[in-house]
Amino acid sequence: MHARITGTGSYLPPTALSNNDLVARGVDTSDEWIVERTGIRSRHIADDGQQASDLALAASLKAIEAAGIPAEKIDLIILATSTPDYVFPSTACLLQAKLGVSGAAAFDVQAVCSGFVYALTVAEKFIRSGSHRCALVVGAEVFSRILDWNDRGTCVLFGDGAGAVVLEASSEPGILASALHADGSHHGILEVPGNICGGKVVGQPFVKMDGPAVFKFAVKVLAEVAQEVLDQAGMEAAAINWLIPHQANIRIIQSTAKKLGLPMDKVITTVDRHGNTSAASIPLALDSAVRSGRVRREEILMLEGVGGGFTWGAVLLKF
Ligand code: UT7
Repeated sequence: MHARITGTGSYLPPTALSNNDLVARGVDTSDEWIVERTGIRSRHIADDGQQASDLALAASLKAIEAAGIPAEKIDLIILATSTPDYVFPSTACLLQAKLGVSGAAAFDVQAVCSGFVYALTVAEKFIRSGSHRCALVVGAEVFSRILDWNDRGTCVLFGDGAGAVVLEASSEPGILASALHADGSHHGILEVPGNICGGKVVGQPFVKMDGPAVFKFAVKVLAEVAQEVLDQAGMEAAAINWLIPHQANIRIIQSTAKKLGLPMDKVITTVDRHGNTSAASIPLALDSAVRSGRVRREEILMLEGVGGGFTWGAVLLKF
């Protein structure tokens, strides 16, 4: 029994903010600095009334349509987010209700920017165990809600969006190899160190990041985990048709590609248009590449993510 992606979908809120729009709003930055250090030119920001589950719904409906299945067929919903609608219930349950279905297992995964890779890996294990046959795996974020617009070191980096895939049991592979890791001792370099207690926010409800430390860690672990899944599958990097990395910073992406010996024309990048959408960035990049006709059936894809926790992971698959 294998697990194979049978449909992809994504959604970006209509409001796009360019780097110059941020400058116009009073952020102490410049288009030149942001483009040079990150590759980001623009990002999408959810409207006030849009929650993570709304973005997830729009992406999921497209993935379900692409898979050609009725929503009732889904028996597992795993949603990765760090910006859930509520403390509880899970955004996965709220998504299920908005899809108008019931009965399937539904839960959230919290692994920040590695969330989609974590969720996909967990879903694959459910399917391979034989307990479930049709999973909806989603990354959805409204990161703009946890940004401090006075902190130019973080607010220029992130955006909102959602991406989804349908992962089904199949006699054909599918996911070939995967690896997940975390090192909680580094939680302090990227965190939102706040919670709700007694009706009040305690601590900080905004993203706090040591950018250079995250950068260094990301470059190191992404190269390691990519090699780990290649070894697991008994494959060489040259077999990869498309590297679809977490879209945080073009310089991290270029470094990962270089370490794998892959030219940039084998790398899907959306960071220029989407910014860093955390758990949504990989499925957003995947879906945009599928819909533009770049990624095709039977091709070998390497998805890899890294983020707060610290967490990181990779999935190697035949599309
Ligand atoms: O999803 C995973 C999460 N995050 C990441 O992957 C982010 C990883 N880190 C990075 O992408 C980079 O570290 C950043 C893009 C965040 C920062 O780039 P950097 O080249 O590491 O810059 P830096 O933090 O070392 O700052 C260099 C300078 C500083 O000024 P001084 O002290 O040299 O005068 C900053 O104050 O750039 C300044 N700076 C800015 N200037 C204009 C920081 N942010 C900005 C800004 N606009 N937005």
